[in-house]
Amino acid sequence: MKKIGFIGAGNMGGALAAAVSRTENSVFVCCAHKENAEALAAKIGATATTVENIIDVCDLVFLGVKPQTLPDLARSVKPLIEKRKDRICLVSMAAGVTCSRLAALFGDCKIIRIMPNTPVSIGEGVILYCLTQSAAEYEDLLCDALSMAGTLHKIDEAIIDAATAVSGCGPAFVYMFIDALADGGVKCGLAREKAQLLAAQTLIGAAKLCIESDKQPSELRDEVCSPGGSTLRGVAALEQGDLNGIVISAVEAAYKRTRELSGE
Ligand SMILES: NC(=O)c1ccc[n+]([C@@H]2O[C@H](COP(=O)([O-])OP(=O)(O)OC[C@H]3O[C@@H](n4cnc5c(N)ncnc54)[C@H](OP(=O)(O)O)[C@@H]3O)[C@@H](O)[C@H]2O)c1
Repeated sequence: MKKIGFIGAGNMGGALAAAVSRTENSVFVCCAHKENAEALAAKIGATATTVENIIDVCDLVFLGVKPQTLPDLARSVKPLIEKRKDRICLVSMAAGVTCSRLAALFGDCKIIRIMPNTPVSIGEGVILYCLTQSAAEYEDLLCDALSMAGTLHKIDEAIIDAATAVSGCGPAFVYMFIDALADGGVKCGLAREKAQLLAAQTLIGAAKLCIESDKQPSELRDEVCSPGGSTLRGVAALEQGDLNGIVISAVEAAYKRTRELSGE
């Protein structure tokens, strides 16, 4: 059982802390406002504490503050980290902040960079991660700590922005598709609530089949399209509206903006 700390436990840090609290590890949280940390700790069975105590006792320390707060945080904690640099590993979830930038801020210590997406809050997230060489010994602990948050994917930092445009931004694109699928159902006479449930559940099933079968998405699509049938008419309408092109443009636009934000 290891000690896992969260400095900053709002939307994303809080969701990850909740997932870690469902493992064998002990969780320590702190926020800018003590009462926020206490409320979260009571809810998930963690310990609310201070930044200093987290750095003093924890093995893995997640940085869940906003990227713009990192420099101030780094200034105040760098001397404490320096003292424990061989026994602590920092895990940053800050969008667009590279491992080298983190090393410049926090000094010569072990660093892991992750990029989670919002379904981590129900244990179905995608968590991208990349390690600095010195943090390799913490990989197993990271994977164990986040095992209840979703699936982990180790990637080269050079492609993290591209992967972020798919899995980090992707949930927003998927919700838009669910909304549109449901709107279509409502237009054809379904009640909104029923249409949304059918649309969302259809995405879950189709996505699982895509992962679990050894077929390409285009083959799976063809299996739904009988010759001269209704699905084919719908597919033709999507092709006419250039669904493929629009989605590719959305991912590319998100990728470009991620690169801009990370200053690359
Ligand atoms: N939200 C997402 O979908 C998402 C996705 C991927 C990555 N991320 C990354 O996750 C990080 C957090 O984003 P978020 O959306 O979770 O932000 P958030 O909800 O605003 O949470 C920020 C947290 O940081 C705390 N905090 C601020 N200053 C602090 C300090 N000096 N010491 C300790 N705690 C401090 C806040 O405490 P109080 O609540 O008391 O103010 C709050 O708990 C960001 O780096 C973001 O890039 C977010």
